[in-house]
Amino acid sequence: MTETAVTAAASPSQRRPYRVIQWATGAMGKTCLRSVIDHPDLELAGLYVYSDAKAGRDAGDIARREPTGVMATRSIDDILALEADVVLHCPLLKFPYNAHDDDVCRLLASGKNVISINNYFHPASLGEAHAERLKASCERGGSTLAGTGINPGLIAERFAPVVSGLLTELESLLCREVYDCIDMPNANYVFDVMGMGARPEEVDLENGPLATLFGAMYRQCVGALAERLELPLTDIRNDHQVTLAPRDIKARAGTIRAGTVAATNWQIHGLIGERRVITHSVNWVMGGDVPGYEQFSHWEVSLRGKPGIDIRMDLVEPENTGVKTTAVQYGVAGMVTQAIPHVVSAPPGLMTFPGAPHYTPRLS
Ligand SMILES: NC(=O)c1ccc[n+]([C@@H]2O[C@H](COP(=O)([O-])OP(=O)(O)OC[C@H]3O[C@@H](n4cnc5c(N)ncnc54)[C@H](OP(=O)(O)O)[C@@H]3O)[C@@H](O)[C@H]2O)c1
Repeated sequence: MTETAVTAAASPSQRRPYRVIQWATGAMGKTCLRSVIDHPDLELAGLYVYSDAKAGRDAGDIARREPTGVMATRSIDDILALEADVVLHCPLLKFPYNAHDDDVCRLLASGKNVISINNYFHPASLGEAHAERLKASCERGGSTLAGTGINPGLIAERFAPVVSGLLTELESLLCREVYDCIDMPNANYVFDVMGMGARPEEVDLENGPLATLFGAMYRQCVGALAERLELPLTDIRNDHQVTLAPRDIKARAGTIRAGTVAATNWQIHGLIGERRVITHSVNWVMGGDVPGYEQFSHWEVSLRGKPGIDIRMDLVEPENTGVKTTAVQYGVAGMVTQAIPHVVSAPPGLMTFPGAPHYTPRLS
């Protein structure tokens, strides 16, 4: 281990624990909450929930841990009044995509750093006015805003740039996620938020709510990656697709009828002129019988150029943990909690994480 690594590893215990507010306790939020409760360098300062049934309960009870003395609240004013270093923002996606902005701006203006898993990955990709509003809230509170997670958060923003450091010339770069949703339990999420089971005539892949929401979310991956590689994109364009079920598919959340949506592909291209230099392709599919999805890794990063590179990444489910937490939930919680020291020590404003290549590959 190098001297620098020893110093970096030792530093967290030399300061007081980071005071953390957990915002929302779904599958992702609860995994983050447990990581905070279990981590010696983190101290739970507050807990915001949406459901009345959880309000007033001890955070430890919600997380299946010992009592913490921190009670869940539905009041943002209670949260704003707390002394805390950072808020871990893990609510459900809402329509429209910017529906959480008011809450986040209030948190930032009150002096709390915010790490979100839903948005704020690369705000400039959603327009200057949007980024300026967030920046102004950061300036008011002397706070920092960062979005992170696996996708968005890691694959395009951090993996792809690091890997591109091997290239002398870049032709094109594809980041692809394929996630099998056949065992997802939450019917609202699968049918309403992911759009499965919709009749094709109901799906507007250009201006519909899902196309707009996921277009805005994943456009930020393309924008962040282009910025890291200093690629002078002239346009970012949606190219969304759906695949219909060849027969009825029995999924855990309910039945996907034949002829309705059984896979969505939220696909965004980063262009220079008419040339597709970056493609970010997010595929959610109801099982392996859907045409085109017979074999896949969870994430793939494919670069073409000199040299070409193909990287496949699958998370491995931890064994014998006795809890239902999935590898993806641990992965997102890891990205979020490990970001805390960096976000807390960053200067006020919108933060991007390191992950740049050693130099920018030449476009061939
Ligand atoms: N960046 C990434 O890599 C990544 C990966 C996966 C997921 N995500 C994001 O994580 C989000 C949460 O996923 P999850 O699996 O935790 O979902 P989930 O298990 O369905 O949990 C839903 C959460 O939403 C909260 N909620 C309830 N009503 C709400 C409302 N009206 N507005 C906002 N939130 C509300 C719930 O609050 P309480 O239960 O606390 O009351 C609960 O915490 C997803 O929407 C997704 O965008 C990001």
